[in-house]
Amino acid sequence: MKKVVLAYSGGLDTSVAVAWLQEQFGANVVTLTVDVGGGSMRDGVERRAMSAGASRAYVVDARERFATDFVWPHLQANALYQGAYPLATALARPLIAQLLVEVARREGADAVAHGCTGKGNDQVRFDVAVHALDPGLEVVAPMRVGMGLSREQSIDYAEARGIEIPITKSSPYSIDVNLWGRSIETGVLEDPWTAPPADVFQWTVDPSAAPAPVEVVIAFEGGVPVAIDGERLDAVDLIDRLHALAGAHGVGRIDHVEDRLVGIKSREIYEAPAAVVLHTAHRALEGLTLTKDTLRFNRLVADELARLTYDGLWFSALHRDLRGYIASSQRVVSGEVRIRLDHGTAVLVGRRSPLSLYDKDLATYDEGDAFDHAAAVGFIEIFGLPLRVEAARHGAVGKHHGAAWAWTEPLLESLPTTVADPATAPA
Ligand code: ARG
Repeated sequence: MKKVVLAYSGGLDTSVAVAWLQEQFGANVVTLTVDVGGGSMRDGVERRAMSAGASRAYVVDARERFATDFVWPHLQANALYQGAYPLATALARPLIAQLLVEVARREGADAVAHGCTGKGNDQVRFDVAVHALDPGLEVVAPMRVGMGLSREQSIDYAEARGIEIPITKSSPYSIDVNLWGRSIETGVLEDPWTAPPADVFQWTVDPSAAPAPVEVVIAFEGGVPVAIDGERLDAVDLIDRLHALAGAHGVGRIDHVEDRLVGIKSREIYEAPAAVVLHTAHRALEGLTLTKDTLRFNRLVADELARLTYDGLWFSALHRDLRGYIASSQRVVSGEVRIRLDHGTAVLVGRRSPLSLYDKDLATYDEGDAFDHAAAVGFIEIFGLPLRVEAARHGAVGKHHGAAWAWTEPLLESLPTTVADPATAPA
């Protein structure tokens, strides 16, 4: 390894890694810091990289691209890993991996490096993505190959080499942040029975301390949010605006025991105020504008896309093709959604769309009902035909345990029942 591009957060671990890579491998170290929003950028990263011995420090503002090319397609897909996690950390990895590869090419580097441990998902995401884009690049993870230092050891290591130490106070948690979410794990959170202490949360107030509920109207075009309360905003500003508003109302806390790719269950707390509101709103608008069949199929795609992203398979053909399907399915997902932010919950209270499939004249039970009630009889006749034939030939099946495969056990006999007639009815 002659020259290595290191994904550099500017924190203590990756600062130490700059010097460590040089000392272990005699490598020229170039750092790459990617701003993916959410306050992930630390001040003075270039200076710190230099103090640790980097030959060059790249800093890339990728916030808008992260939002439009990575976050939006997953919002459009309603993609939540295991139905819960909006994938913030997982979504940023392929973007950072791609930038690592591009900087490596520009710099003529033969390796890239990242600060992940050998136990998590992120190492897999980086390694797999980098090798999909450039199989010739070596990927080094100092934490995986011997750099594992305690916080105290890292501080000593840095001080002995004049590496500038970031002035963040040590956190009892392991935290990853970008504009779509904040991921918090380890420490007392490792006991899934322990309620998350207040110091876990930075983006959301305690729901019970939230102010009086407010309503917000989100406008979508083609499945992408474009305006809040009538004000058009670009992707980053829109997310930031909702983040502040929903967070102030305690919305966006997620407590998830998830299945990591490496086979272990881990307990993770997420703060994702904007993601929670936008997912709620987007699903509501799909319910109004997409057919029953499309909705059903989209749920399968959502699950599959979430899994592929979680598992680091962004640069696979299946991932690309599912994104293509989703983009196409979203053409009609335009309109507005009203959400009430109420003490920790994003409550859906209204939706409307010029492309709505909802037809009041068909749905109403009041005056003006256009639905043909008499036609329902013929419909049910045909719809129920296979079931009637089956029940006639095989018996109606109401129970699938026990010896009898036809439903024979009487229900009425086993339930407390009273029968009144004119002679016995209470007055
Ligand atoms: N479990 C999440 C994921 O794999 C987040 C991991 C982020 N790291 C952290 N230090 N919390 O996507």
